[in-house]
Amino acid sequence: MRILGIETSCDETAAAVVEDGRLVRSSVVASQADLHARFGGVVPEIASRAHVELIGDTVAQALVEAGTSLEEIDAVAAVHGPGLAGALLVGVSAAKAIALATGMPYIGVHHHEAHLYAAFLEDPSLEPPVVTLVVSGGHTLLIAMEAHGRYRVLGQTVDDAAGEAFDKIARFLGLGYPGGPAIDRLATSGDPDAIAFPRPMRTDGLDFSFSGLKTAVVLHVRKHPDDDVADVAASFQAAIVDVLTEKLLAAARVTGIETLVIGGGVAANSALRARLLDVAVRGDARVVIPAIALCTDNAAMVAAVAAYRLAADGPTPLDDAAVPNLAL
Ligand code: KG4
Ligand code: ZN
Repeated sequence: MRILGIETSCDETAAAVVEDGRLVRSSVVASQADLHARFGGVVPEIASRAHVELIGDTVAQALVEAGTSLEEIDAVAAVHGPGLAGALLVGVSAAKAIALATGMPYIGVHHHEAHLYAAFLEDPSLEPPVVTLVVSGGHTLLIAMEAHGRYRVLGQTVDDAAGEAFDKIARFLGLGYPGGPAIDRLATSGDPDAIAFPRPMRTDGLDFSFSGLKTAVVLHVRKHPDDDVADVAASFQAAIVDVLTEKLLAAARVTGIETLVIGGGVAANSALRARLLDVAVRGDARVVIPAIALCTDNAAMVAAVAAYRLAADGPTPLDDAAVPNLAL
């Protein structure tokens, strides 16, 4: 089963070919980050127009790099939510057009469910049950995946998503957009113990809260304007990594599930990855940490989850719409 996946929910135009939900044949990501950087964030209208310009070549490149053609593709999938309405429409329309022209099935997939599947591409022997932490710009979700397609939400953020906190603090510190990678880079030359920022809701259930931490950083910098920015970045990042790691381990204890996986853009964070590697090395849990390219937005994860969705639910009707605020 060869599936062509398409992702255009935000500011990456991506296409990929994946076999049997597990084997990545190609994964192409055309980033628009440069187009949005000077505005300090994603401009929806610019994103939609850039997707329209990039989608044809990106799909073609994914097919070429996979050494295949549309005739050898069995199904086409696209993220149909959540995301920016105009941006989603480009990928969904492209996938539906391919389905209509070739007769192959179309599968609309949920962006966050796709992030869950990065780990299954990283480790083809991985099987549920797993506890997953999906940390992106829009969500911070702790999920028990009991079987393919069977999820229990254990916890989520009550205010900002972790990636949103990274982006807002980066903007406040004048580090530009996208903020997560900028803080990650700067933090390598800072001291994570320099400032004792709060660890919100650290031992308080499995939900998250990051807006208090954000305020604490802002207040601290206003009070101590001469503090080394690298120390601020490293200390802020350490607070987020502490909370994410401890909640993930707590979720393992609560559910009795011994395999932990991560996904979403914040899972590209080097401090979080190092901490989870440490958890794995100490033997506290089995941890699957997907390659960075599988954590940030990509279409391989879309094609991967589509294989399971197609087997379980069949094709998505072509008159199904893109849904900007689609629930998991
Ligand atoms: O999953 P993703 O690519 O898009 C969404 O679904 O939102 O996640 C993007 C988020 C942004 O907030 C970005 O700042 C953050 O992931 N991010 C990082 C890193 N790379 C991306 N945050 C921390 N450290 C990183 N290295
Ligand atoms: Zn994402």
